Amino acid sequence: MSRIAYVNGQYVPFREAHVHIEDRGYQLGDGVYEVCEIRNGSLVDERRHLQRLERSLSELRMTLPLAPSALRFVMEETVRRNRVRDGLIYLQVTRGVARRDHGFPEQAIKPALVVTVRALDRSKIEANAGAGIAVITVPDDRWDRVDIKTIGLLPNVLARQKAKDAGAKDAWFVDAEGFVTEGAASNAWIVTHDGVLVTRPSSNRILTGITMTVAKEIALRLQMKVEERAFSVQEVLAASEAFLTSATQTVMPVISIDRRKIGSGKPGPVAKRLREEFHRVAEIGRKIV
Ligand code: PDD
Repeated sequence: MSRIAYVNGQYVPFREAHVHIEDRGYQLGDGVYEVCEIRNGSLVDERRHLQRLERSLSELRMTLPLAPSALRFVMEETVRRNRVRDGLIYLQVTRGVARRDHGFPEQAIKPALVVTVRALDRSKIEANAGAGIAVITVPDDRWDRVDIKTIGLLPNVLARQKAKDAGAKDAWFVDAEGFVTEGAASNAWIVTHDGVLVTRPSSNRILTGITMTVAKEIALRLQMKVEERAFSVQEVLAASEAFLTSATQTVMPVISIDRRKIGSGKPGPVAKRLREEFHRVAEIGRKIV
């Protein structure tokens, strides 16, 4: 079946899905995005992802080009037309098309909206979760507003590629003080030998993950102790386990960092438990396909 994309008001076949060369997203990275999981034909945590999208937009003094209810309709319709039951939905809003100039266009322009859907191979993700993944560290050289989910992802792109080149699955950014900020496309966690879950608090130095927020809720429900503070690479090496969270991977055990074993070198019980519980606590939308 051919894929369909939603582009500025129209559902079009993928090969015909184009944006203008003077779209400010293309020329200046002037836009924001969201990624939401599709599981068993339903959207996962859509409400929170759309809330975060609105926040990102407002930080850039942008607005949605359509009403939130219309956007929800478009999202469901794009999933329906692609008949994807397990995968992800990607939304991107850019400031729109205008003659290239760094400042905002003088005349109000309509933001551009693109929605795409992609199937994911769940068995591959499950296999990774069963084995645990390796991460490397890279200096966090990003700007200090990474709390906004902008499409300007060059440091993340380079970090992920470096991880790939090293045979690892993700890169964890480390700040100038030696503390882990987050993953290239995920949030980072450790579990101490006392069983305390540690993750960095929300600030301008990380993207507050929706998966992270749900994982904190699960931990509290299970009466696990969560400490929101920065942790160093040394603490990762001394931890009993580590894991990362993201919409596409939910809770993913991390078994090594820079090729050095974490804990037993196998996925730990806390990460496994959070992973099992995840879809019982996340908000599951209505069945679309
Ligand atoms: N990325 N931090 C960064 C830098 C991210 O890019 C992401 C998600 C997260 C986790 O956020 P959430 O739990 O809401 O997915 C944290 C998505 C999946 C992406 O860029 O593909």
